[in-house]
Amino acid sequence: MPEWKVEPRGPGVELWTIDGEARRNAIGRAMLAELEANVARAARSSRVVVLTGAGDKSFCAGADLKERAGMSEAEVREFLDRLRRTLRAMETADAVFIAAVNGTAFGGGTELALTCDLRLAAPSAEMGLTEVKLGIIPGGGGTQRLARLIGPGRARDLILTGRRVAAAEALELGLVNRVSAQGKLIDEALEMAAQIASNAPIAVAAAKHAIAEGLSLPMDDALKLELSHYEKVLGTEDRLEGLRAFAEKRPPVFRGK
Ligand code: COA
Repeated sequence: MPEWKVEPRGPGVELWTIDGEARRNAIGRAMLAELEANVARAARSSRVVVLTGAGDKSFCAGADLKERAGMSEAEVREFLDRLRRTLRAMETADAVFIAAVNGTAFGGGTELALTCDLRLAAPSAEMGLTEVKLGIIPGGGGTQRLARLIGPGRARDLILTGRRVAAAEALELGLVNRVSAQGKLIDEALEMAAQIASNAPIAVAAAKHAIAEGLSLPMDDALKLELSHYEKVLGTEDRLEGLRAFAEKRPPVFRGK
C-alpha cells in the first residue's frame, strides 16, 4: 500500500499527504523510501508541493518508534542517512515545498516541516523537537535548521527542553510563516502554492537557492552569490515576457525558459 497520496492540484501544484493516520503519520522505512522517490521525481521541476498528514490529529509524529524499537544501531544509522539525504534533496531542489502542519509534529515531523521552504500551521497544530526526552538528539538536521531559522537562543530553548509549542507560539517564534483560519489550512496552503506556481519558474528556483546558499556566507560573498543567481534569469524568455506583459497591462505567461 502506498505510504503517500500524491495528487495534482492545479497547474504546477501537487498535494502530498502522508497516508498513515493510525500511526500518526510517523516516518517508517517504507514511508521514507517513498518520500525519497517522490522528491527525486519532483526535485528538478518547477512544481510547488504542499506536504501534509492524513487526518486532523497529526502532521507527522516523527520517527516510527515502534519500528525503531526493533532496529539495530546499524539500521538506525542507515535510516538516518536516508532521512538526511532526502531532506537535503528537498532543500536543494528547484521545486518549492510548503508544509501544511495540520496537527502534531514532533521530532522528525518538525524536522520535515523545517526542511520545507515555507510552513503553514492549523490553529490546533503543535510542534517540537522532543528528541532529548527519548535519549536522542534531532538527527534529521533539526539542530542546524531550527537554529538558522529562528536563531540559536530560541533553538536552544526548544531543543534542550524538548517542549512542545502551540501554533500561536510557533508563529511568534518564526517557526511557522502563518497560522491558517480554522478548517482552512489546505485551502490556504494551496492558494500560496498557486501564487508561487504562477510566477516565473526559473526566477522562483533562483531566489530559493540564493536565500538558502547565502545564509552561510559573509555578506560580500552572499551578495556575489545573489548576482550569480541573477545571471540565471537575465537571459531568460520569461524575463522579457514579464516586461512585455507589464507594458501591455496583462498577466504574464511564463514558460520556464
Ligand atoms: N511512532 C509510531 N507510532 C506512533 C508514533 C510514533 N512516533 N506516535 C504515535 N504513534 C501511534 C501510537 O502508538 C498509537 O498506536 P496504537 O493505536 O497502536 O496504540 C497511535 O499512533 C495513536 O497514538 P496516540 O498517542 O493515541 O494519539 P494522540 O493523537 O493522542 O497523540 C502524539 C499523538 C503524536 C501526540 C503522541 O502519539 C506522541 O507523543 N507520539 C510520540 C511522538 C514523538 O515523541 N516523536 C518523536 C520521535 S523522535
